[in-house]
Amino acid sequence: MLSNLQPLKVYASPIHTAATPRAKQETAASVSYLVEQLCAGSQVPEALSVLDLCTGTGCIPLLFANDLTRKTRNLNQLEVLGVDISATAVRLAQSNHERFREQANTNGLGFNTAPITRPPGVKADSQRDKQKITLQVQFVRGNILQAESTAKANVPSLTHVLQDVGRTRWDILISNPPYISPAAFNKDTARSVRNFEPKLALVPPGLPNRSDEEQGDLFYPRLLAIADDVQARIVLVEVADLAQAVRVAKFAGQTGSWDGIEVWRDDPSATWTETIEGFKIRGSGNGRSVFLWRREAACWLPLNLTKWSR
Ligand SMILES: C[S@@+](CC[C@H](N)C(=O)[O-])C[C@H]1O[C@@H](n2cnc3c(N)ncnc32)[C@H](O)[C@@H]1O
Repeated sequence: MLSNLQPLKVYASPIHTAATPRAKQETAASVSYLVEQLCAGSQVPEALSVLDLCTGTGCIPLLFANDLTRKTRNLNQLEVLGVDISATAVRLAQSNHERFREQANTNGLGFNTAPITRPPGVKADSQRDKQKITLQVQFVRGNILQAESTAKANVPSLTHVLQDVGRTRWDILISNPPYISPAAFNKDTARSVRNFEPKLALVPPGLPNRSDEEQGDLFYPRLLAIADDVQARIVLVEVADLAQAVRVAKFAGQTGSWDGIEVWRDDPSATWTETIEGFKIRGSGNGRSVFLWRREAACWLPLNLTKWSR
């Protein structure tokens, strides 16, 4: 089945997709808006590394790479790593990557997989130069909830994965993790989703003494801890709705790590904004993602971004 992300065409399996094709469009809107923000910055970076956790089909990082490499003129090097616990998802992401490369070649946007050919500081100024972007994409199996690998675990921990890949610092962290609480799964999801989507992709695992809401939110504190560990300068995480978005924004505020905290609705490019519990809510539609940035990323982003103040 072809997903409806255009112009990038990727295969989505009946398993390991976000809950509905509609959710895919909304995920795509957040990712594309992030790319727009990066392209509107005063100093677009020449090299970027992007870590996508719970990558599923890999559609988020491939869309990001597709949009960014088409829209920015400065980029020399883009390194992308997608991590997922499911072997099926990782295989699918790898074949989507192959398909992405074929499309890029067909469209004359071939990428180097060799080391950078342009010295740092020299800007790309032609379509020919753009072909010299060095793009490295990898999809790897890993369990992001597990800090350390244990002898019993059959999936490597994220720490292990990052050591193997040879990079422990990542500029941008993106994730669309499982975020549906067990009650919402039973009450709000369509029967087709309940019957055909693996619960692992949608509902976080249960832990003792957690409320239904806490189980739905389980991945976010871990994602924020990982963002600190890998020194991510920008984070974009997808959420179920506005209420969860505000809870995640609060978790982020409590870490003291972030200079900017915003909630993005389904269409974050729509101008309408409001403030809820001190957090700027951008765009129109349902609460869709939480966007965080640190001071070090300020020059990559538009000047009119407001700082979050406690
Ligand atoms: C909602 S799906 C998102 C897929 C993809 N990011 C997208 O937007 O289409 C969540 C993904 O998280 C993965 N996942 C669940 N638990 C995980 C864990 N502990 N570590 C890594 N990935 C996990 C699932 O296999 C699934 O592919």
